[in-house]
Amino acid sequence: MRQRKPLVVANWKMNGDQHLVHQVSDSLVALSGALPDILICPPVIFLPNFPKHPNYRLGAQNLSEQPAGAFTGEISAVMLAQAGASHVIVGHSERRTLYGETNSLVAAKVAQALAAGLTPVLCVGETAAQRAEEKTFQVLAEQLDAVYSAQPQWLAASVIAYEPLWAIGTGNTATPAQAQQVHAFIRQQLARYDAAAAPDVRILYGGSVNAGNSASLFAQTDVDGALVGGASLNATDFVAICLSAKGE
Ligand code: 13P
Repeated sequence: MRQRKPLVVANWKMNGDQHLVHQVSDSLVALSGALPDILICPPVIFLPNFPKHPNYRLGAQNLSEQPAGAFTGEISAVMLAQAGASHVIVGHSERRTLYGETNSLVAAKVAQALAAGLTPVLCVGETAAQRAEEKTFQVLAEQLDAVYSAQPQWLAASVIAYEPLWAIGTGNTATPAQAQQVHAFIRQQLARYDAAAAPDVRILYGGSVNAGNSASLFAQTDVDGALVGGASLNATDFVAICLSAKGE
């Protein structure tokens, strides 16, 4: 089996302030020993306020599908890279459901991210209704196909995050067995685009991850880390989640 270094991502969503920037950066800088890769995705306005440190990297939560121009309120991939981001979350379910992002728009955003040298963290996931109708695998395959079937070479430069909508912000985390089943399916699907890259692609789980359930999720073969929402807003909890993922 290949070794994939765990990746723990904080998605602050539209939360946090300068105080949290200090708390989180100070706590992470103080860590030593074997750490997972750690990525903080605050609201973009805070990116320049994080001190540079090898214990963590920075990402954005969204980007424009356009490279530049008259697109009021938008931020390009190149601007994010210049502000210190190495990664960007793309296709989060809140963007898909609240802001109408389609699979094809998500693919255009992944293209922009990669062109600017950013690693896309592509989010996929099914609703409770789709799961109840046993459409989980179909929905995930459509979301992945929209990005990788025409551009399989994008896969090696990507991170995938499985975030079932029914688990986000609900306290209803997927069981480790449920997460593993879906992650194994996703990896199988990725192998259809690029069989050589698929074993090395990190697949993160997201949805009500906390310091109490992270270790059992990370113990699953195909769960390579987490995308953490609510629990990432508490520095102590977030550090505990990071430490429950083994570093190299
Ligand atoms: P919660 O951890 O708050 O459920 O959020 C998950 C999420 O959407 C991370 O992107």
